[in-house]
This record gives sequence, structure tokens and C-alpha cells, in this order.
Amino acid sequence: MNTGIRFAEASGADAAALSAAGQRLFVQAYGKYSRPDDLAAHVGQFFGHDSVAIELQKPDVGYTLALDGDAIAGFIKIRRGAAPDAVPAAEAIEVQQLYVDAERQRKGIGRMLVDHAVATARVEGYPGLWLSVWQDADWATGFYEAYGFQKAGTAEFWLGRSRFMDYLMWFGLDRDSQ
Ligand SMILES: CC(C)(COP(=O)(O)OP(=O)(O)OC[C@H]1O[C@@H](n2cnc3c(N)ncnc32)[C@H](O)[C@@H]1OP(=O)(O)O)[C@@H](O)C(=O)NCCC(=O)NCCS
Repeated sequence: MNTGIRFAEASGADAAALSAAGQRLFVQAYGKYSRPDDLAAHVGQFFGHDSVAIELQKPDVGYTLALDGDAIAGFIKIRRGAAPDAVPAAEAIEVQQLYVDAERQRKGIGRMLVDHAVATARVEGYPGLWLSVWQDADWATGFYEAYGFQKAGTAEFWLGRSRFMDYLMWFGLDRDSQ
């Protein structure tokens, strides 16, 4: 599919743009489900400039950007390491963040971003990918199931004082490695 999008691994130089995009896209997707003060605290903690700059320096973390010209139309963040008991691997790649701008959704960009994470898992010898997704986010669970992720368990997620129930989902690589 020709989306006019190019993909690039983020570096420390992308911290400011990635922080701004993360804040904008998180609020766009989840702002209406959160209390304003909890939302501000969460966005500051996970998408503030200093947090993103620190994450970009970690060797176990990677971000792939979907770029429309120089603008970030979406991104995926992965983390290599320990996986929860519910998934069938002790070490795997976690899809920690995945966002595509609402104006660019349903054009295959999310799928291509996950393809990058899957390619990384393969090259680095991980058995699969896992993630945690809000159970009521039909758009996201629908996307992950369409990709081939399967529900593996549940987990709590706290956004400030609000408790959300997540699904843990798993995508094993052995299924399509032949
Ligand atoms: C989830 C998300 C990343 C998907 O990105 P996208 O670029 O729109 O997804 P794609 O175009 O690659 O979709 C691939 C397939 O996933 C499924 N899918 C995508 N969006 C869907 C939706 N809203 N409802 C149901 N299925 C969906 C479809 O099968 C789709 O194929 P199709 O368009 O040919 O029918 C995007 O909706 C998003 O950023 N949402 C807000 C942030 C978010 O919730 N992120 C996940 C946090 S865990």
C-alpha cells in the first residue's frame, strides 16, 4: 500500500518531536476517557520531553516513527525484556505504545509499524511480542486481533485514580516462521 509514509528509527534528536506527538496522540485517543488532572499527570509522566529523552537512551527500548514529510503521523515503542506470566515466554518484545494520527488511520500504517516490531523480534531472536490494551478500546483490540495477536490474560491499568481493565495479548513468531 502506498501511504506516502516513510519509516525511521528514532534517535535522541527526535525527543522533542516525539514528546509532542505522543502527548497529542494520547490525548486524541484517550483524553475523553480520563479526568483532566489525571490525564495531564499521565501525559507528563509518559510523554513529557525529559521522559521521552530518557527512554530514547535506553538500550532495551526502541521507537519507530511513521513520517509524513517531517511530521510524525504515528509511532511504535517497543521494550525488550521480561514478559508477564500470562504469556508463553519469559523474555519477549513488548509493544508499549502504538499511535497513528486519527486522520491517517485505516491506511495500513499501524500494521506497518507492528511489522517493524515483528522484524526486530525476529532479527534479535525473541519468540514473540506481547502488549496490554484497554478492554473497552474496540478499535485497538480489533486491530491487534486482525494482525494475529491473541488474548492471553488480563491486567489492571491505573490512569491516576481511574482503574482500567486491560487484555494481555500475545503474538508468537513460531506460527509463521516456516
Ligand atoms: C490501533 C491503531 C494503531 C491502528 O492503526 P491503523 O493505522 O488505523 O490500522 P491499520 O490501517 O493498519 O489497520 C489494519 C487492520 O486492523 C483492523 N482495524 C484497524 N482499525 C480498526 C478499528 N477501528 N476497528 C476494528 N478493526 C480495526 C482492520 O482489520 C484493519 O484492516 P482494514 O482497514 O483493511 O479493515 C490506531 O487505531 C490508533 O492509533 N488508535 C489510537 C491509539 C491506540 O488506541 N493505540 C493502541 C494502544 S494499545
